[in-house]
Amino acid sequence: MAKILTWLLTTLLAACFWKLSVQHPVNGILGLDVERNSEGLLESGAAYRQFSGPAQNFPDVGTWTRYDFMWNLNKAALSAGGNIETDVTYIKEAIEDCANQYHVDRRLILGIMMQESRGDVGVITTYSGGLPTAGLMQCSGCPGFPGQHGLSQADITSMVCGGVKHFRGNMDHFGNEWSGKTVFPALREYNSGNVNEANLSDGRGATASYVSDLANRVTGWSN
Ligand SMILES: *[C@@H]1O[C@H](CO)[C@@H](O)[C@H](O)[C@H]1NC(C)=O
Repeated sequence: MAKILTWLLTTLLAACFWKLSVQHPVNGILGLDVERNSEGLLESGAAYRQFSGPAQNFPDVGTWTRYDFMWNLNKAALSAGGNIETDVTYIKEAIEDCANQYHVDRRLILGIMMQESRGDVGVITTYSGGLPTAGLMQCSGCPGFPGQHGLSQADITSMVCGGVKHFRGNMDHFGNEWSGKTVFPALREYNSGNVNEANLSDGRGATASYVSDLANRVTGWSN
């Protein structure tokens, strides 16, 4: 009897310690605090996963990391380029404004911005097919301030909202649902201008990994 009790106790204790160590891994890969979101999902600097095929192969919106976590994960990169402190503060404000104005999730705005410009407000203007794509969101018809930093809130907001307006249009082309079925093809359209819905990692002449990169960004990966 005593033997069985001892065995039971040891097993229970071991289970408790195992559970504790699983729930509280020592600081994440990037030395960030590890926390859980409202769904109880572990949030930590995640390793890159390759996604391809149709939208259902990509992580649906319910599995994404929290915006605050994502912001903190990207904050170092936002300050690493030529941005001064107010540029970063104004970017944060611009994301809030444009999210509210166009009803686009903040994680997608931040993700697209990191993908396009690493959040450098002075990013160069690039040309695709002779057309300029400018600014934080690298979009056609959007303002850009190549080589400039210490911009005003209005200038930064105009760059972010320009891209968000484009992306809003892309979401409308794919059913305007708050689900991966809308979001991932819309991201492909934002990058390539057209979409192979059977394989969203078909770059159509643009960046093949674009949608996969965004899927990783919104689930807690950064570079
Ligand atoms: C999608 O296209 C990419 C790029 O051409 C390719 O590497 C990948 O294997 C394709 N995936 C599927 C599921 O067809």
